[in-house]
Amino acid sequence: MSANPTAAAVETETNERVQQHRRYLMCRPEHFTVSYSINPWMEPSRPTDTDLALRQWQSLYDTYVALGHEIELIDPVEGLPDMVYTANGGFVIDGVAYGPKFRFRERADEAPAFIDWFAANGFEVAEPVEVNEGEGDFLLVGDTILAGTGFRSTGDSHREVGEVFSREVVSLTLTDPRFYHLDTAIAVLDPVEGVGGVEKANIAYLPNAFDERSQAILRERYPDAIRVSDADGAVFGLNSASDGKNVIISPRAKGFEAQLRERGYTPVLVDLSELLLGGGGIKCCTLELRGGTR
Ligand code: ARG
Repeated sequence: MSANPTAAAVETETNERVQQHRRYLMCRPEHFTVSYSINPWMEPSRPTDTDLALRQWQSLYDTYVALGHEIELIDPVEGLPDMVYTANGGFVIDGVAYGPKFRFRERADEAPAFIDWFAANGFEVAEPVEVNEGEGDFLLVGDTILAGTGFRSTGDSHREVGEVFSREVVSLTLTDPRFYHLDTAIAVLDPVEGVGGVEKANIAYLPNAFDERSQAILRERYPDAIRVSDADGAVFGLNSASDGKNVIISPRAKGFEAQLRERGYTPVLVDLSELLLGGGGIKCCTLELRGGTR
């Protein structure tokens, strides 16, 4: 409590986070396993427990529902163990779904499955020409698309995504193979720009996952961003989902959890350790559906 009413009001304004409604696409990990290796986390010789993956995934699903969010499901396809990572299935703004074109043959057949789902569910599909892995590498912050390259999506896809959505695209280069998708190195905490200015459009990121040029861009554009420690990055702490107030994160990202609390966010801990064996976490299992019919 503050004796000065003006100071108290200012305090509330900056510390109170406002929850936004989300609609997400998810896929039950019924066929989850690690049978090939396309990122440093994947070890096919290490056994996986599909039932545990399903239980952990269910707790993420239940968490979203309990927070009031809407979840759509796409049917898992046998032989496509990575389909649970729906973030790679496209990038959706205003009812338009820019389809994925996977870097590796092992995931190529997921693309038509996702594109068919979008078409059947009222989305306008923009067929990709360039290699891109959807929201794994494209993040919307305000009106700007942050786009990752270095391992998966190509620089040409950054141009293409800008043309599809007529928005500014900021290219960022990832340099550490453990953080091969942009959503493993940046978390969009509050995408709303305008209200409250810069502080509102807040992101968290792992500086060491990027080259010098990209680090400079991030420092300049997001001076208020949370910079996450290497230890929290290494447990996929940034691979999280936020509704502007609640931020679903790994229970292992202790430092990030404290940083979020300091900024007035509410961390919600969900453990997806089994899905991390495939090199994916919370955000990877979550594709945001913006706009569209419904
Ligand atoms: N095994 C998958 C791959 O390497 C994991 C994808 C993780 N998805 C993400 N959005 N980071 O493609």
